[in-house]
Amino acid sequence: MSRIAYVNGRYLPLRRASVHIEDRGYQFADAVYEVIAVRGGALIDEEPHLKRLHRSLGELRMAAPMGDGALKLVMREVLRRNGIATGSLYLQVSRGSAPRDFPFPARAKPGLVMTARRGSGPSAKLIEEGVGVITIPDIRWGRPDIKSVALLPNALGKQQAKEAGAFEAWQVDRDGNVTEGTSSNAWIVTASGELVTRQADRSILNGVTRIGLLGLLAREGLKLVERPFSVAEAKAAREAFLTSTTNFVLPVVSIDGTPVGNGYPGSVVRRLRQVYEAFVAEQGEAE
Ligand code: PDD
Repeated sequence: MSRIAYVNGRYLPLRRASVHIEDRGYQFADAVYEVIAVRGGALIDEEPHLKRLHRSLGELRMAAPMGDGALKLVMREVLRRNGIATGSLYLQVSRGSAPRDFPFPARAKPGLVMTARRGSGPSAKLIEEGVGVITIPDIRWGRPDIKSVALLPNALGKQQAKEAGAFEAWQVDRDGNVTEGTSSNAWIVTASGELVTRQADRSILNGVTRIGLLGLLAREGLKLVERPFSVAEAKAAREAFLTSTTNFVLPVVSIDGTPVGNGYPGSVVRRLRQVYEAFVAEQGEAE
């Protein structure tokens, strides 16, 4: 089955799908996006993703391309046309296309693009054995809480991780504290058993997986502390893990080559992975 994209009102084979060369997303990264997991044919956490999309649009004073009802229909149609029950949906809204000029164009129409792809997330081996991360300086702009397509520092960081044989790069602020991964949020379980992730202020993207997991912690009797943690604290932690739409909950077993704990996924992250998978499966079954 050839892949079908939605582009500004049309469903087209991917190779024929294109946007205007003066699209502001292309020229200024003046666009926002969401990646939504699909399981059992259902869009997982659709509402929180739409809520965050609206927040991103609002922060950038960008108009929504259509109402939520229509957007949901298009998302489902993209999944249907691509025959996807397990995978992810990518949605991007740009401020539109206009002759290149920095201020907002007076009359540009917001652009909307969607693609979908198959995929079931990390391999069983990665989940079982965990992954390594490196640490890099956080060189991003001051608003990574907005899910914009300005992802060059993230791409450079992920490439650096790849070249170092690591799965992800944890970005570090000027105070030596971890902000987040290049495409995931960062968590640790400290030596004293405290579950820690950075508070969702302007320094990180408030992950939908992060929010979902927060809601499940109380049921598990786990107490979370939202605060910054340093690289040194992470390296001395009992456990570490990352969360994202594409990876759910994934154990981190080394940081810059230093093993975390005994170098194997710990009991808290293994439990949280199970709990989160069950939470996703429930949504898939409800579809
Ligand atoms: N990335 N932090 C950053 C910088 C991210 O890009 C992402 C998501 C996350 C986790 O957010 P969520 O749980 O909502 O996926 C945190 C997506 C998956 C991507 O760009 O592919």
